[in-house]
Amino acid sequence: MLTLAIETSCDETAVAVLRNKKDVLSNIVSSSVHLHSKFGGIVPEIASRFHVEYINYCIKKALKDAKVRLEDINLVAVTYGPGLVGALLVGVSMAKAISFSMGIPLIGVNHLLAHIYVNTIGKNPPRFPFVGLVISGGHTSLIYMKELDDYKILGQTQDDAAGEAFDKAAKILGLGYPGGPAIEKKSRSGDCKSIAFTRTYLDTKFNFSFSGIKTALLYKNRDLKYVRNRIANMAASFQEVVVDIIVKKTIDASIFTKTDTVVVGGGVSANLYLKNKLTRTAKHLGIKVYFPLPKFSLDNAVMIAMTGYEMFKRGRRSNLDLAVCPNLGLESL
Ligand code: KG4
Ligand code: ZN
Repeated sequence: MLTLAIETSCDETAVAVLRNKKDVLSNIVSSSVHLHSKFGGIVPEIASRFHVEYINYCIKKALKDAKVRLEDINLVAVTYGPGLVGALLVGVSMAKAISFSMGIPLIGVNHLLAHIYVNTIGKNPPRFPFVGLVISGGHTSLIYMKELDDYKILGQTQDDAAGEAFDKAAKILGLGYPGGPAIEKKSRSGDCKSIAFTRTYLDTKFNFSFSGIKTALLYKNRDLKYVRNRIANMAASFQEVVVDIIVKKTIDASIFTKTDTVVVGGGVSANLYLKNKLTRTAKHLGIKVYFPLPKFSLDNAVMIAMTGYEMFKRGRRSNLDLAVCPNLGLESL
């Protein structure tokens, strides 16, 4: 069975062709990030226009790389949320057009679930139940997953998402957009113990809050204006706090749910400092941690194809009235 998947929730126009469960025949990602960086963040209208311009090319290239024709495709999967409304509309409209014209089923996929599920692509996939940690540009959530379509939210961020915090911190420090990779890179030459930011753990065990740390960074940046190696030290100290909070809450969630597996997804999972710290801490406690391959950390359509295929196998279908859901969370599939 061949699945064609389309992902246009933010600044990546991505298309993939998947054979059955995890045989990736093609994986096309075309990013408009270079057009946004000079604005210090994503400009929704630019993202939407980029999708309109590139979607046809990406689909043709994905089919060509996969050495299949559109007529061979059996299922079309598409991100229907969360994301930018105009950006999502491009992918969903295209997916509907393909579904209708080719007479094949359509399935709308929750982008956040897909970030987690892509971890099952390897030879030794994580086994349910596990704790899922979604850390992306717009979301930070801990979930207890019994199955792909049967899970419970343990906690979420109450303000900024982890990726958003990295992006805002980078902006304060003048490191450009996207902020996550910039902070990670700058941190390598900084001392993570140089500035003691307060760790916000909140009363509720599994909820997160990152906006206080960001504000503390803003003031520290002003106060320490003339200190040597300020930017690198601030970046490293900021990353340390955010990583510590994520590691602690995730490990607590694993202990609380008595699961021995944690599965991480979303753009912030590309952060190697986090990966090493979480993996090391978990190992001491006998907890196994899965991070996606680097090419599947950031937005891609392989994750949409895999999740769409699995949902389809479980009997789920979308109709041609599938609506985009910019604010979709993990409350619905
Ligand atoms: O999942 P993603 O590609 O898009 C959304 O679904 O939001 O995540 C993008 C986010 C951005 O906030 C970006 O700064 C962050 O992931 N990110 C990182 C790293 N690479 C990307 N954050 C920390 N460290 C990184 N290496
Ligand atoms: Zn994403």
